[in-house]
Amino acid sequence: MKLRKLMAGFMVGVMAFSIAACSGGSTEPDSSDTEQEQSSASGETKTVGIAMPTQSLERWNRDGSYLKQQFESKGYNVELTYSDNKIDQQVKDIEGLIAGEIDLLVIAAIDGQALSQVLKDAKDLEIPVISYDRLINNTDAISYYVSFDNYKVGQLQGQFVEETLGLDLNDTSKKYNIEFTAGDPADNNAPFFFNGAFDVLKPYIDAGILNVPSGQTEFQQVATKAWDTATALTRFQNILGSNYSGGTQLDVALCSNDSTALGVTQAIDSDYAGDNKVLITGQDGDEANLANIVDGKQTMTVYKAVANEAVATLDLGVALLNGETPDESLISNSGWDFECMYDTESYDNGTGIIPSYLLTPTVITKDNIQTELVDTGYYTLDENGYPKGVQ
Ligand code: GAL
Repeated sequence: MKLRKLMAGFMVGVMAFSIAACSGGSTEPDSSDTEQEQSSASGETKTVGIAMPTQSLERWNRDGSYLKQQFESKGYNVELTYSDNKIDQQVKDIEGLIAGEIDLLVIAAIDGQALSQVLKDAKDLEIPVISYDRLINNTDAISYYVSFDNYKVGQLQGQFVEETLGLDLNDTSKKYNIEFTAGDPADNNAPFFFNGAFDVLKPYIDAGILNVPSGQTEFQQVATKAWDTATALTRFQNILGSNYSGGTQLDVALCSNDSTALGVTQAIDSDYAGDNKVLITGQDGDEANLANIVDGKQTMTVYKAVANEAVATLDLGVALLNGETPDESLISNSGWDFECMYDTESYDNGTGIIPSYLLTPTVITKDNIQTELVDTGYYTLDENGYPKGVQ
């Protein structure tokens, strides 16, 4: 395919030179160059391949839709795939995108360790690759990473627990019971979420102010494969049955995202005998969880405006398609109306630091749904007052 592109580029070059020679015009780029930016050397409209993990986790439907809209709004062709959270399927889908002669790859990996081989082809064909939302590891094919500050997502969850309970290391008179539910071990984000929260709360665990009756405090013990709601439900039912059947009170269920929080909430509804309201955290602003927040069943979620993540990815992608090497100036020159930081230190994917653009997450509770989600246009409220995502 690379040879085909090169031959096509040569032919276009010959034609341009001959036209210029005949008309005495310049072969210098002209104002119409912006139109050519969407066209590859062969003059065809450039194509962006977008690989999303699944449609069974709500947020990725929005990511795919926003990304497709953004790139198509700039005149690019888009090939969008969803791989049903099946790692082998995503490898096949990416192989198909590369074979389809794309000019940019945007990938949210199901397994951040599983794409090294397939991305060798992208590297050989000099296709820039944006690692979207989840860092892809052990490959030098990654050009940039666009996500949210995922450690901060966890910190916000931990700080919410700390502030809501009024935890104070100088006051060991009050004690609380907490359980942790983390995400998919294959997802590079999951340990960042868990560690962000655990690092805030560990001093209180060490001081005996926070107790973990199940004893499960290691990431691998509390992880949830595929972020699966039913898996989180079953695990939490087991924890409740083993540690909370004798009247022990559960005060906090710290969940790394909304799909796991949904399962944990269902387990508490069905299997927890206590009459206290359990503080439950989440992430993403999934509609079912926002309804639970309105109804008081879930306490908070951390919202990440994926519409903005798509805008940042678009501007980065356009710069790459124009052969540029963006840096912090992509942000300062962007005119974006959302916060983003340029990070060249935090994300080493095993082959070196991947320059990253990290957006800022937001804590959502019942009290700020209107201002942070509805007034901003991300959601509308249905007839029951439940938020519905605006696709
Ligand atoms: C993470 C993502 C989160 C979380 C999870 C499930 O990588 O950053 O938003 O919801 O996947 O999709």
